[in-house]
Formats: sequence, C-alpha cells, structure tokens
Amino acid sequence: MFVYQTSFESSFFNSVLFFVGWFLFDIMGFCHGYLMQLLKSAEAKLSTMSDCEETDEHIAIYKIKTLIKGLEAARGNGTSMISLIMPPGDQISRVTRMLSDEYGTASNIKSRVNRQSVLAAITSAQQRLKLYNHVPPNGLVLYTGTIVTDDGKEKKDTIDFEPFKPINTSLYLCDSKFHTEALNELLESDEKFGFIVMDGNGALFATLSGNTRETLHRFTVDLPKKHGRGGQSATRFSRLRMERRHTYLRKTAELATQLFINPATSQPNVSGLILAGSADFKTELGQSDMFDPRLHAKILNVVDVAYGGENGFNQAIELSSEVLANLKFVKEKRLLGKFFKELYQDTGKHVNGVDETLKALEMGAVEILIVWENLDINRYVLKNSTTDEIIIKHLNKDQEADQSNFLDSDTNAELEVQEKTSLLEWFANEYKRFGCTLEFVTNNSQEGSMFSKGIGGIGGILRYQVDFRSLDDPSSDDEDVYESD
Ligand SMILES: *[C@@H]1O[C@H](CO)[C@@H](O)[C@H](O)[C@H]1NC(C)=O
Ligand SMILES: *[C@@H]1O[C@H](CO)[C@@H](O)[C@H](O)[C@H]1NC(C)=O
Ligand SMILES: *[C@@H]1O[C@H](CO)[C@@H](O)[C@H](O)[C@H]1NC(C)=O
Ligand SMILES: *[C@@H]1O[C@H](CO)[C@@H](O)[C@H](O)[C@H]1NC(C)=O
Ligand SMILES: *[C@@H]1O[C@H](CO)[C@@H](O)[C@H](O)[C@H]1NC(C)=O
Repeated sequence: MFVYQTSFESSFFNSVLFFVGWFLFDIMGFCHGYLMQLLKSAEAKLSTMSDCEETDEHIAIYKIKTLIKGLEAARGNGTSMISLIMPPGDQISRVTRMLSDEYGTASNIKSRVNRQSVLAAITSAQQRLKLYNHVPPNGLVLYTGTIVTDDGKEKKDTIDFEPFKPINTSLYLCDSKFHTEALNELLESDEKFGFIVMDGNGALFATLSGNTRETLHRFTVDLPKKHGRGGQSATRFSRLRMERRHTYLRKTAELATQLFINPATSQPNVSGLILAGSADFKTELGQSDMFDPRLHAKILNVVDVAYGGENGFNQAIELSSEVLANLKFVKEKRLLGKFFKELYQDTGKHVNGVDETLKALEMGAVEILIVWENLDINRYVLKNSTTDEIIIKHLNKDQEADQSNFLDSDTNAELEVQEKTSLLEWFANEYKRFGCTLEFVTNNSQEGSMFSKGIGGIGGILRYQVDFRSLDDPSSDDEDVYESD
C-alpha cells in the first residue's frame, strides 16, 4: 500500500509526490501550510483506501505514469541525480553501507561544484533512509538530486515511496538524469496475451497486455494464387501451391515457438494465445503437428478476421473480448461503448466537456467520471485581489496562452493566480467527494481515440437525466443554476 500526495506549485515534482507511512517530509522549499495539507489528505486517503481497491490501483498506475513523466523530464547539472531502488527483503543497512562507500569515492571528484552536488545528493539519500527501519513490503524507491529547472535555477529535491506492488529491481545510479526504466515494471499488467494473425499475405505476431499492444514480428509471403497461369500443368501447380503453404505454416509455427516460449524456462511467456486469420491458415496452424504443443495448450480462441496485419490484430482483440474480458483494454472499450450509446441515443444520461461535467459533478449526478489519461487541462484558482472573489477556470494550452483568460472581464485588471493543478490530478484527489467512480481511459482503442478527440477527453455517465440545454439557458447564470438545484 502506498499513499499519494498532490503536487504543489513550487516543488519540482509538479506532478505527483508519493510517500509512505511517514509524514516527515523535507522537500526543499515548501511552506508550513502545505505540510499540514499533506498530512490531512494522507489521512483521508488512508481511511478510504480499502473502499475500492481496484479503482485505487489504477489511480496508482496513473500516478506512477505522471511521476515517471516528471522524473524523465528532470535534468541535473553534472552527475548529481541519484536513483535508488530496493526490492522487498533488501536490507537498509546494506544500502547505508553502500552509500557511505559512495560518499568516500565521490569525495575524490575533482570539480568542486560537481563534487559538492554529488555529496549533497548522497547525504539527502542517507537522511531519507534514516526514516526507515526496514524496507517496506513492496520495496522502496528513492530519487534525489539537484535539478536544473526550466528557468535555469538549481533546486534540490527528494522523493521516496513504497510502490503499490512489489518491485523486483535493485538499482543504484548516480547520473545526470533519473532512471525510471524499472518503474515501468509496475505499470505492466501481469498477464500478457499472444496473438498470431495469419492470412494469404503474411503473418503478424503480437501481444496485448493491459492496454498495451506490441507487435513482435511480421513477415509477408507470396503464395501462388488458386489458379495457375496458362501453360502450367494443374497437378504440378497444385503441388507447388501445397508446398508453399506448408512452408509458410512451418515458418509461422517456428516463429511462434521463438516468440512465445521463454528458452530459459521452456515455458510460454504469454498467458494465452489467440489465433486469427482470414482464411484457413489459423485453423491449420492450430491443428498442425508443427505447432508447438506447449503453445497449443495455451490457445484461448481461434477467430475469423477480415484483414491481416494490424487491422486483423485489432479485430482479433475485439472478437476475443469475451475471452479477454478481464483485460483493461476490453473494459475500457466497454465503458466507452456505454458512454457513446447514451450519447447517440440522446438519453440525457451523459455529460461531456469540462464545464458540463463539472456542473454535473457538483450536482452529484455523475455515476462514472471518465477522463482521458493524457488530458492536458489545468485548473486555475484565480483571485480578484480587490474583492477577494475567487474564480476557477479550466484552461487548455491554447487558452493558457491567451492572456485575456487571466484578466478581469470588466476592468481588464490582472487576476492573481493562487493555484494551478492539472485537472487530472485534481480529479484523482477529489472524485470521491462527488460520489462517483473515476475511470482513466487511453486513446488506444477507436472509442478512446474518439473520446479524446471528439469529446475532449472528459465526460461522464449520469445516474439520472439532466437537461443541460435548459441549464445553459442564457437568462440565468451558471452559479444560480446549480445552487437552485
Ligand atoms: C552547472 O555546473 C557548472 C560547473 O560544473 C556551472 O558553471 C554552471 O553554472 C552550472 N549550471 C547551472 C544551471 O547551475
Ligand atoms: C526477480 O528477478 C530475478 C531475475 O530477473 C528472478 O530470478 C526472480 O525470480 C525475481 N523475483 C521475483 C519475486 O519475481
Ligand atoms: C518471450 O521470450 C522470447 C525469447 O526470450 C522473446 O523473444 C519474446 O519477446 C518473449 N515474448 C514475450 C511476449 O514476452
Ligand atoms: C475586482 O473586481 C472589481 C469589481 O468587479 C473590479 O472593479 C476590479 O478591477 C477587480 N480587480 C482585479 C484585480 O481584477
Ligand atoms: C493519442 O494521443 C497522443 C497524444 O497524447 C497522440 O499523439 C496520438 O496520435 C493519439 N492516438 C490516437 C489513435 O488518437
């Protein structure tokens, strides 16, 4: 289990901060009020964690993704950025000793500036480790170093957390950047499914894991058509054709073994296999004695698809949806399918776009809040410093560039920016307050792509009908509308 905290403006980790059990935080440069806020939300988070494990797991995944993005973007000056990962069961004392040795070595660095920043990073790591008596059950991840910010300033920062599931990596690196490769392990769903798509033009080998599709290999074949060209003897042509098909099947079967069997264990490295194709090849492959019996045992489904290649792969995923029902990708398609059904049938039980969705949330009408995982909208809390009036705006990149969004509409006086948070992150922290569930979706599926582009990446399925056309009536202003409801 891990606890997550919202980011805050002046910290480098403008994305996300994580921490474990301990509330002692010393990220440089944050104020007192923030520490209190951190503590409060952490407690709230702890008390709600067990309510909905599953949602929390995928929020955890979203947060790891955000963290990885932030860490990857960070650059240091010299080699003063430490990445430290300890797997479950590792000893704090081992790492403490290792850090002392590193400190000794680093003391010999010639460049004074570089030496100082490396030593400072090692010291931060040592101090942070003092907060732990032992490595938490899922392991421990720590990043610390001096980061060069966009405006060229240098800033020390440290982040440490217990991952939400065990991390099987032992890492210590001191470099000019943070190393996050190992964190990707946390994002992978444990299950990987293999796909073989075969048609008369070639074969494609691919995997699906969670939402991630990966093409491992593809090749094309040039098989003789059914009827030979004039002049050839029919029997000779037919024999040639059979031979070429046989060779094609054998090559596919051999590649399947290479790509889906782990030579170290002699076992398949996919939890299931789907054979797809537009002709008889897929059936023949499955029945052929050239096809590896270890893989044969893993066949979940044989499906007929209209295309080969990538399109056939996508169709095969769709057609196997029942078989792969527990996969997130399929769940995501199903969720968005439901959303679009409400939309097309105009049932009034859906919302889309930032403004409508937020109104519906405030009304408590949203059952499922759906947000594209890459939604690029920030939530601004603006203040009119004369009247102390607070104005909340949700701005995308283009709107942020438009200075008029930060001006008082009547007087053109500049509004004070009190807070800027990514809307995604704000939702991740606040959704429970609105009595809804939160689902992050990708744009990997056709529905997801439509949702992110056409719908703007934010929407929801409602508990009951809400007529936004009447709410949008220009004679009443927004505030009045939802207060009177
Ligand atoms: C980076 O380090 C060099 C010395 O190693 C120093 O001269 C330079 O000012 C540093 N850059 C920043 C942005 O601090
Ligand atoms: C961790 O990884 C190592 C090598 O990659 C492997 O031998 C070991 O079984 C793994 N342990 C767990 C708990 O997954
Ligand atoms: C399975 O193992 C083979 C051989 O190590 C490798 O080439 C292939 O990429 C692996 N496949 C998957 C799905 O991990
Ligand atoms: C605040 O609002 C008042 C009244 O609408 C307006 O006169 C004033 O210019 C605004 N000030 C700022 C800083 O926006
Ligand atoms: C998904 O979103 C990314 C941007 O985050 C974009 O580059 C990509 O083209 C999108 N893919 C689809 C299929 O819409």
